[in-house]
Amino acid sequence: MTRHFLRDDDLTTAEQAEILDLAAELKRDRFSVRPLAGPQTVAVIFDKSSTRTRVSFAVGIADLGGSPLIISTANSQLSGKETASDTARVLERQVAAIVWRTYAQTGLEEMALGTSVPVINALSDEFHPCQLLADLLTIREHRGELAGLTVTFLGDGASNMGQSYLLACATAGMHVRIAAPAEYAPGAQVVLNAQAIASRTGGSATIFTDPVEAVSGVDIVVTDTWVSMGKEDEKAARVKTFGGYQVDSELMAHAKSDALFLHCLPADRGYEVSADVIDGPQSVIWDEAENRLHAQKALLVWLLRQP
Ligand code: CP
Ligand code: NVA
Repeated sequence: MTRHFLRDDDLTTAEQAEILDLAAELKRDRFSVRPLAGPQTVAVIFDKSSTRTRVSFAVGIADLGGSPLIISTANSQLSGKETASDTARVLERQVAAIVWRTYAQTGLEEMALGTSVPVINALSDEFHPCQLLADLLTIREHRGELAGLTVTFLGDGASNMGQSYLLACATAGMHVRIAAPAEYAPGAQVVLNAQAIASRTGGSATIFTDPVEAVSGVDIVVTDTWVSMGKEDEKAARVKTFGGYQVDSELMAHAKSDALFLHCLPADRGYEVSADVIDGPQSVIWDEAENRLHAQKALLVWLLRQP
């Protein structure tokens, strides 16, 4: 059966580790695996803006011997004239995989149901699982083993990044904490899913409202924009509500002295993070951005190898 990657818990712990191992291998030897030689085409569809995702998929597909077909939804029939399901039926006859950045997770599910080629979530309103593969690769590079580490994500807990942190880190056997205002807590079902996974992997998933309590003694501190794509109209209210969650040097001082700082980017310096933290010695954001390339190549190779 075709495997898709729509949310972080589509992978078991062993599968996640296998992909991270492969990513590390591909980072060491970039052009060693070429499953898309031909070249075969991979469709990469964007309903929302992107720099990192667009570049890393385009470069990664080319590295694997393939040809990326970048589609802006606004110029395609997917913008309103055609369903995800019909689009999937058309694409599967011509491409090796479909990568899609969109709004509702249900659109991705519909696309995946309608096609025999792997569908990859390149960010939805609910999850950003490709980013989490890159983040886990980065943490592993800097800290070795993932299992047992404690990570705190601060900000919009209901966002794609907050929810993906819960599922991906629980899968990796990490202790994941979300620090968010009560009205921006992650979805209750996602929290339950993460806790169920954590009970099997030896990790944990805990929701906090107090940022200081949430970062106390942790190994990794993570944040993301307070205003995700599609939420721009809410900016003023969000900036007010999230004010106390800025990751600055005072907050970082409550984490371990060598704690890592991660941010998926793009960043709003002076809002979710101060410039001295994001541009400071604990920040690994440029490794994290580069690792999108290696992690997604590994994901593609792995998905294409599945029977
Ligand atoms: N982090 C991330 O997904 O960046 P882009 O929006 O630039 O793709
Ligand atoms: N949460 C952000 C991530 C951007 C990569 C957004 O959805 O806009």
